[in-house]
Formats: sequence, C-alpha cells, structure tokens
Amino acid sequence: MTKPSLKQQCKDLKLAQIPGAYLEIAWENPEQYLTDLFAVELKARQISRVRTLIKKAGFPAHKALEDFDWDPVSLAGETSISDLTGLEFINRKENILAVGAVGTGKTHLATALGIKACSQRKSVRFYRCLDLVNILLEHHRQGRLGATMALLGKCDLLIIDELGFVPLHRDGAELLFNVVAQAYEHQSVIVTSNLEFGQWNSVLGDNRLTAAMIDRLVHHAHILAFDGESYRLRKALSGLTQGQNEREALRS
Ligand SMILES: Nc1ncnc2c1ncn2[C@@H]1O[C@H](COP(=O)(O)OP(=O)(O)OP(=O)(O)O)[C@@H](O)[C@H]1O
Ligand SMILES: [Mg+2]
Repeated sequence: MTKPSLKQQCKDLKLAQIPGAYLEIAWENPEQYLTDLFAVELKARQISRVRTLIKKAGFPAHKALEDFDWDPVSLAGETSISDLTGLEFINRKENILAVGAVGTGKTHLATALGIKACSQRKSVRFYRCLDLVNILLEHHRQGRLGATMALLGKCDLLIIDELGFVPLHRDGAELLFNVVAQAYEHQSVIVTSNLEFGQWNSVLGDNRLTAAMIDRLVHHAHILAFDGESYRLRKALSGLTQGQNEREALRS
C-alpha cells in the first residue's frame, strides 16, 4: 500500500499550516524543530479562533481601543480606564453602562472592548437594542425563545447598543428584561444609551419593569457618562470648512 503524501497526512490530521511551513523552519535538533513547527500551527489556529469569535459577535464595524479618545467620558466612583481596558470587569461579571450625548463614542467603545474580549478568546454578542428585541419577539412567536435565551446566556459579554432611540412594545420590553435578569451576576453586559436612567421608562413603557432592569444593571456596574460635541458633526463641519478653504484658495 502506498503511503499517503505529507500533504494528505497533514490534511487528515487537520494540520493546515505544516505543509507550507516545514521547509521554512531552521533545524537545530528534532525537539526544537517540532516545537517551532507546531508553534506556527498553533498561532494560525489562535488567529482563526479570534476571527471566528469576532464574526460571531456581530459587531457593526471594526473599532480599536487605541483609536478611542477618552475626553468625552467621565468615570464614576472607583472605575479607572485601565480597569475597563484590562477587561477585568468581564471576569468579575460586572456591567458597563455608557450613557450620554450622540456621536461621542459609546458604540465605538463598546465595540472596541468587545473586540479586545474576542482577542482574549471570550465570547461576545453585539446587538442593537431594537434588533435584539425583534429577534426575541420573533423567536417567542416561533416557540424557540428558550434556545435563544440559552445562547444569549452562554456568552461572556453581551452588548446592547442604542437603548432609547425607539420606544419598545410592551412584550419586547419584557423579553429584554428577561435577558438582563438572566445575565445578572452571570455575565457582563454593556448597555449604551442616549437617555439618562430617569428617561428609560419612556422606552420600556413601564415604571416597575424599568426600575427592576436598572437595578440589575447598575448593581456591579461601571457608569460612564459621555458628554460633548458629536464626532460625526465635528467631522462633517471640518469637511465643510476644508471645502470652503479649498474654494477660497482657488478663487484667490
Ligand atoms: N471618543 C471617541 N474617540 C474616537 N472616535 C470617536 C469617539 N467618539 C466618536 N468617535 C467616532 O465617531 C463616530 C460615531 O461614534 P459612535 O457611533 O461610537 O457614537 P455614539 O456615541 O454611539 O453615537 P449615538 O449616540 O448616535 O449612537 C464613529 O466613527 C467613532 O469611531
Ligand atoms: Mg451608538
């Protein structure tokens, strides 16, 4: 019987990197050679695992913590920037509530923290609040809410973005409350909102439900107040000024 080729054996053993790497590794002794060769395989697997986690999380865009300007953010209590960027809050099952002005980076920060969590092999799910509520309502109608809740409950970090733009239907608000209640002390949640807590009842439509939801979210939470001018607006205005300057330069 003919022996399978190296390429075939690597394929059978799911060692995708070895055929391309084995000639590139310097030889000193057998153990060093195999260690360096397997390190190539392991690194590629780690990168691919992180990519899969990022894809599964459903981020709206790629954002990095390095590009984030903390100026618009006021931190309450003992929270420090390094506490947040170090992601210890996820291990401690604490929440982040990012509340404040439009276009000041709430979604950027939530996304960047989520992507960093993925790079540390934590599982993350990112939803715009309304999308999450619509999924919950639909799966409830289809009788598969249990499976969806179980899936949501499995991730390390759940991000609910944009609570407050659109008022929720009562059933939707109740389902959202169930997600928050399930997460309480079991997983970290990041919520972003344009509304101060006092206005959340205008979205959730029920004072008791709103109070119970805020209570669960703020217990073990880092509260971040975002203030200042919108980045989007600033960018658009600087584009206008630049265009105006260019036109004036052409005229003169
Ligand atoms: N503090 C910041 N540092 C770096 N970039 C920022 C910051 N704030 C906003 N941006 C950039 O401006 C754009 C809008 O930011 P983002 O969507 O995060 O704002 P937001 O607070 O979530 O706004 P909204 O309340 O409308 O949802 C993004 O491209 C983001 O990268
Ligand atoms: Mg946003």
